[in-house]
Parts: sequence; structure tokens; C-alpha cells
Amino acid sequence: MKKKENGSKSIKKPWPTKDAMEQIYKMKLWGGSNSDFYSGTGSHHPEIINPYINAVTSFFTSFKEPLTICDLGCGDFNVGQNLVKHTQKYIAVDIVPELIVRNKETFKEKKIEFHCLDIAVDDLPSGDCVLLRQVLQHLSNAEVKSIVDKLGDFKYIILSEHLPDGDFVPNRDIVSGQGIRLKKQSGLDVLAPPFNLKVKEEKQLSSVTTSDYKGRIVTTLYQVF
Ligand SMILES: C[S@@+](CC[C@H](N)C(=O)[O-])C[C@H]1O[C@@H](n2cnc3c(N)ncnc32)[C@H](O)[C@@H]1O
Repeated sequence: MKKKENGSKSIKKPWPTKDAMEQIYKMKLWGGSNSDFYSGTGSHHPEIINPYINAVTSFFTSFKEPLTICDLGCGDFNVGQNLVKHTQKYIAVDIVPELIVRNKETFKEKKIEFHCLDIAVDDLPSGDCVLLRQVLQHLSNAEVKSIVDKLGDFKYIILSEHLPDGDFVPNRDIVSGQGIRLKKQSGLDVLAPPFNLKVKEEKQLSSVTTSDYKGRIVTTLYQVF
């Protein structure tokens, strides 16, 4: 949180999301003391990532013509790297410039493109299917709304979110980059207000609980049209 002096009053202004995400990686707030960039346990723990990789692989390989994928908030690419071989083209995007430079150097394959974009602000690349894995859970409702409003051009959306166990009040607002809705006993539901994503079909692909994690990580496939 940045403090701004205004006469005798001190107004707290949230950090821009880019600064917050850069700081998370720089200060290793998601762990990974021995890694250059580490996107968190949710991006590395085999118990968490394997059910996701298996479920998404079977969806991708169910198509005769492989899909073009836009991975929005690709992070350290520990997860994404396992999916590339099942796609036509894999466009991976993140808000942290240094991470995108590192990913370009680390994952060199003809069909992968890395771009540094703020998905709440910039135009999104086009493709058949969007992956948003544990990204929206870190963002304020205003940013989520601006992203959700841009998803209507993709036929498929695969969304993974960390949700509380049992029933919860969806979509309580948070400050971007300062912890997820779980701390407010809430989680994201993009079909509910204020997001109101319109979809043709919804299917849960996986739901994972682990001993060292509260709540569950749920992956849902939405068919938009
Ligand atoms: C917890 S990590 C998840 C990474 C990856 N999706 C995975 O599952 O391994 C969240 C990522 O979203 C990125 N991110 C957050 N807000 C973003 C935004 N507005 N535009 C692009 N990327 C963003 C962060 O920089 C971070 O790398």
C-alpha cells in the first residue's frame, strides 16, 4: 500500500497491480526461495497441478483440430509448459515484464508466444480458449469485471479459482495483490453479479483439496457460444 501525503491527512492508495505483482515476485511472497520466479504452491505442488493438467489435456485432445490457447496470467509457466504440446498455438501473457523476459529465454518453442500485458487494461490476443488459472482470485472486482467483459470472443474459458469449502457469499471485493477472497470467506463466481458472464454451458473439470491448503481449487470449463 502506498501512502500519499495530502495536507495533514495521509491517504492510502492501493499499489497498481503491476507494482504489486512485481513486488510479490521480487520479495518471494509466494515462496520459492531458490527460484528466480515462483508463482506459488498452487503452480508447483503435484497434488494440485496434476489433476488440472490431466483434465485440461483431455479437453484439448478431444478436438481433431488443436486449439489456439490464450493463457492469461501465465506466471512462471510451470503449469503451462505441460499443455503446449496439445495446442495449435499457445499465447501466454503476464503483467510482470521481467517474468516475460525470463519465460521467453526459458521456454523456446515455435508455437509459444509470450507477451507482457495487463489483461484488465490491454486488448487480449485472440484464440479459441482462454486459461485463467488462479489469476482473478488476486484481483479487485473492478479489474475482474473489465477482464470478464472481454472474454465473450473466446469459445471456451477454463477458469481455476481458490474457493472456500461449502457455501459462500460470492464476489466480495478485495484490493488487488493483497490476498485472495478466501480471507473474507468468499470466492469468485463469474456468472453472479457484478460480473454476469453469459455462457451456454458450464462443467467442473477438477476440484482439489490439500492438507496444507484451506478451501479447494476448482477448475471450471465454460462454453461461451
Ligand atoms: C498465482 S499466479 C498463477 C500463475 C499461473 N496461471 C499458474 O497457474 O501457475 C498469478 C499470475 O497472474 C499474473 N497477473 C495478475 N494480474 C494480472 C494482470 N492484470 N494482467 C496479466 N497478468 C496478471 C501475476 O503476475 C501472476 O504471474
